[in-house]
Amino acid sequence: MKTKLKIPPKAKRLLSELSKEADKRGTPLYLVGGAVRDFALGYSTRDLDFTVEGDPTPLVHFCAKLVNAKPVPFDSFGTWRLIGGKAWDIDFATTRKEEYPSPASLPVVSKPAPILEDLKRRDFTINAMALRLAGKGFPDLIDPFNGLKDLENKVIQILHPESFRDDPTRVFRAARYAGRLDFNCSEEILRLSYEALKAGYPQKLSRHRLSSEFLKILSEKDPNPILNQLRDWGYLDLIDPQLSALSWPDWKGLSAESRLGILAFSFRENAEKFLASLSLPRDISNAIVASLKIAREKSAPREELPKLSQEILKFLFPKISPSALLPLKISGKDLEALGINPGPAMGEWLKKISSLQWRGKIKSKSEAIRWLKKSIH
Ligand code: CTP
Repeated sequence: MKTKLKIPPKAKRLLSELSKEADKRGTPLYLVGGAVRDFALGYSTRDLDFTVEGDPTPLVHFCAKLVNAKPVPFDSFGTWRLIGGKAWDIDFATTRKEEYPSPASLPVVSKPAPILEDLKRRDFTINAMALRLAGKGFPDLIDPFNGLKDLENKVIQILHPESFRDDPTRVFRAARYAGRLDFNCSEEILRLSYEALKAGYPQKLSRHRLSSEFLKILSEKDPNPILNQLRDWGYLDLIDPQLSALSWPDWKGLSAESRLGILAFSFRENAEKFLASLSLPRDISNAIVASLKIAREKSAPREELPKLSQEILKFLFPKISPSALLPLKISGKDLEALGINPGPAMGEWLKKISSLQWRGKIKSKSEAIRWLKKSIH
């Protein structure tokens, strides 16, 4: 079948270079997954996943030169990632077959496998298409599960009834694609996601996998319909039961990390516990925790706040004066110069100043000194 994909010219040039090289080497090379879906929808993407029936290493190095990136081995499955390229985020893997020994476990992998086996192990029909880039003519779409038809019908469908038993993160993914693309989930997805929950499969997922799905949802342009869907399905409780009681603000344009901070603020005294359960990178969780502290104390920070903390606070307090988020204008030394010795009294004066700065009543050091002189004497 000749493709109906609308591949943007820049991507076409890259695919065609790779295709020639793969042909020269006699290596069966495919573009798979999200990029094929997005090109079929007429969208552009910078994420390209390639798979090779065999060892991808020579093509990895060839491609790295083309896109000016560094090849880095990526996981225990022999995957490569090309890092540092400006235009593309590229992964290479060997085609593989997967078997799931028990519900929600990581798969047992055998490779290389024929491309059809590689497509069979995937989540949804719309993600189980491949574009053959070498051998038998380019470009040639392989669509064994009628993904193109499902794209036309705007429906998300799984490939087999055991899909959510094997990998319950797919329920989160189904909600994510349905929300992102404004598609419907099939009746089968609705039924089997419910049955999987009853059977306790998603409850077996590691905290790490759940947290990673949650962050992917928060990274979407509009996470709200996705969060609502997951709440209806009873899956949001798995991330945290307190989440289900929240409503989502209009937070378009914000980063996933800022959105997380905003949600954490609604968790009140449980916020830090919630954040810790998500095993975030330390700088992110520190910045969120710093913003929570400021939001609770309603005082200007003692030190420079990270950009992330500022973004969260600006959202939580939209009318805040810009100086409220800047480091406190006064230091202990300034207070000593005014005759206040280190000790509890100094702490009290600093607190007063930071509260005034938060409320926009003090915007500069000279204003702070003037206020102190007046108030101390
Ligand atoms: N995949 C899968 N099951 C999963 C995760 C991934 O079958 N639990 C497959 C899908 O074929 C998917 C591909 O691996 O298309 C790549 O995964 P990922 O990068 O997470 O998704 P993309 O389709 O690239 O989607 P996105 O646009 O969200 O990045």
